[in-house]
Amino acid sequence: MVTRIGRVFARAAAALLLCLGAAGVPAAMPDIPVPYIPSTEVAVEEMLRLAGVGRNDMVIDLGSGDGRIVIAAARYFGARGLGVEIDPELVVVASENARKAGVADRVRFVAQDALKADIAQATVVTMYLLSPLIERLKPKLLAELKPGTRIVAHDFGFEGWQPDRKVTISKTVMLYVVPARVSGRWRLIAELPDGRRSFEFELIQQYQRIDGGARVPGGYLPLFEARLEGDRVRFVIVDNGRSHHFEGRVDGVVMTGIVRSGIGTAQTENAWRAERIAHAGRADR
Ligand SMILES: C[S@@+](CC[C@H](N)C(=O)[O-])C[C@H]1O[C@@H](n2cnc3c(N)ncnc32)[C@H](O)[C@@H]1O
Repeated sequence: MVTRIGRVFARAAAALLLCLGAAGVPAAMPDIPVPYIPSTEVAVEEMLRLAGVGRNDMVIDLGSGDGRIVIAAARYFGARGLGVEIDPELVVVASENARKAGVADRVRFVAQDALKADIAQATVVTMYLLSPLIERLKPKLLAELKPGTRIVAHDFGFEGWQPDRKVTISKTVMLYVVPARVSGRWRLIAELPDGRRSFEFELIQQYQRIDGGARVPGGYLPLFEARLEGDRVRFVIVDNGRSHHFEGRVDGVVMTGIVRSGIGTAQTENAWRAERIAHAGRADR
């Protein structure tokens, strides 16, 4: 059954689609105001489930309406929460709902434009907004959120940024893990079974997707199966006919981790470290 709420949001989405070109890509996104349409109970549950919310999380809902997402995060997971809502009347409603739900000590609501909100302390960001606002929020989210912060979007996701997970359970919810910034040139030193090796390698990044390789005397060693999830990085280098599986963490201009070479009883584990020696000119992160 199509509800009244569903019809209102469908009209807003249709208005947005009308503004899209033939290829479905907007030339310049018009700023369509985002109406107040509360998420269904199922959507709230699936958003919090997909984010993997826990008691140590700080959940920020951008455009928080009556507060239902942050209130549920506090009530059912013991998380802390902040709702940022442009309509001051909804902030009053949300604060009252938090009091009634017995979570007023863990959540708060502010009347503010999401584009101006202080979001740096979030570990989870939720949003049920329209694409023009989401696209305007994207650079802010990437610049201000810590690597590893989970962003969950309801129905409308980011353009050009593939979600890490996408689930459709009556509504569609998408998970984006904020990636560390890794584009540029790195010098890596690893203890490998044949002795210490030093590589200079280049990483090209588009959100969580990374690609690259190492220039070595007389050749090039591509990075295979390169993955980035928040601040966790993985890749494989094949050198002298053997594969070396690197796993580590990115902390600013340094990566450290473990490299596994060989299999089973012949597997060795050694430490590796890389330091960034040059940033890339432009990167999508
Ligand atoms: C679709 S509703 C979602 C409400 C709530 N997050 C939920 O899922 O139930 C979008 C909300 O965003 C608010 N909003 C629209 N533009 C905003 C902005 N620039 N900053 C903060 N809130 C905004 C609207 O007033 C509305 O309450």
